[in-house]
Amino acid sequence: MSSATVEAKKGLEGIIAGDSAVCSVEQGGLFYRGYDIQDLAVNATFEDVAYLLLVGQKPNASQLEAFKKDLIAAREIPADAIELTKKVATAPHMHPMDALRTVVSYLAQFDPDCQDNSAEAELRKSKRLTAQIATIIGHMQNAIDGKPIVKPDASLSHAANLLYMMTGQKPTEEEAHIVDVSLILYAEHDFNASTFTARVIAGTLSDMHGAVTGAIAALKGPLHGGANEQAMEMLKEIGTIENVEPFMQSAFATKRKIMGFGHRVYKSGDHRASILHGLGRKYADKKGGDAKKWFEIGEKVQAIMDREKRIFPNVDFPCGMTYYAMGIPVPQYTPIFVASRITGWCAHIMEQHADNRLIRPLSRYTGPNGLKWNG
Ligand code: ACO
Repeated sequence: MSSATVEAKKGLEGIIAGDSAVCSVEQGGLFYRGYDIQDLAVNATFEDVAYLLLVGQKPNASQLEAFKKDLIAAREIPADAIELTKKVATAPHMHPMDALRTVVSYLAQFDPDCQDNSAEAELRKSKRLTAQIATIIGHMQNAIDGKPIVKPDASLSHAANLLYMMTGQKPTEEEAHIVDVSLILYAEHDFNASTFTARVIAGTLSDMHGAVTGAIAALKGPLHGGANEQAMEMLKEIGTIENVEPFMQSAFATKRKIMGFGHRVYKSGDHRASILHGLGRKYADKKGGDAKKWFEIGEKVQAIMDREKRIFPNVDFPCGMTYYAMGIPVPQYTPIFVASRITGWCAHIMEQHADNRLIRPLSRYTGPNGLKWNG
């Protein structure tokens, strides 16, 4: 059949583009390798989930210990990469996602397994990248704040160490727990745009660092991971509870998108959003003041979206308010998403390489035909 006779599905909506055993995204739930996200958010840690995604099964106690040790041992990045991080994090016009993409790409040269796409080498690279990305985020924030680099702390979990490296302050148990849960919720989501990007790159038999670099660029966009920053910026623009209704009516009238709402797959709500909202709201209530105010504004936005559009928040909406209540700088929200989604990306890159076929769809040609250069 000629491609011209086949109707293209804009945005590939509803198209099954391949098989995967990493995760299933359903209207009724989100499952990582068969485990419900609700179960994982309560009973697992980010390190458990990272192992589950990367290795393919739940770790036993000794496997988990060994895995955590590997992550901790891989946290530091080479001096050259620290220098580059400082430079790009403070360069004009660079968003931290651009800086992170640049440093991840640069780190490839230091990885002894860089050009090796075997399963063993890719698992080693996955662990290094998972550990190193958190370090880059910490170093970027230190550089932006004009402070000395904070070295990783081997006594802290992945989530606690990430917060510690960004500020030099050890987080409370509750803060580390909230970020840990957010990392669990963000870790994987089947063929979302950034993961699909990673799989397309991996499908050419290119390397893991290259695939992850492309995935970071895809995640940055405000229709994808960048929405957690945009959601918070929007709440700041609304500013007061009294301004919510007029802001929303004006947004509807001008067809402005409400960031952190809607989803290509979930049409009756994102299972991750309520989990994070609950944790963030509890934390903000205790903190009081401004932290609480943003949740009140956010909840009113949510009620109006439900009333007028029946469109529900995705995980990025509570993430914005929660991270803001914790004092995390807004431009680091999407990089923190990367610190988690790296595990899902790497699981998909390994799955792609284990049973590869070049990903090369067709387009339906809609341009002119039969033109003559000299006539
Ligand atoms: N605000 C207002 N209206 C919306 C929103 C929104 N956030 N999301 C969808 N709609 C409306 C659209 O205007 C459209 O209405 P219409 O049919 O009257 O034109 C309808 O719902 C369908 O929307 P599409 O944009 O076609 O849906 P699509 O599946 O292509 O997009 C997307 C999904 C990109 C997530 C969209 O909902 C959106 O732009 N949301 C805001 C950005 C965002 O929060 N992204 C994060 C996604 S989750 C993640 O990546 C972790």
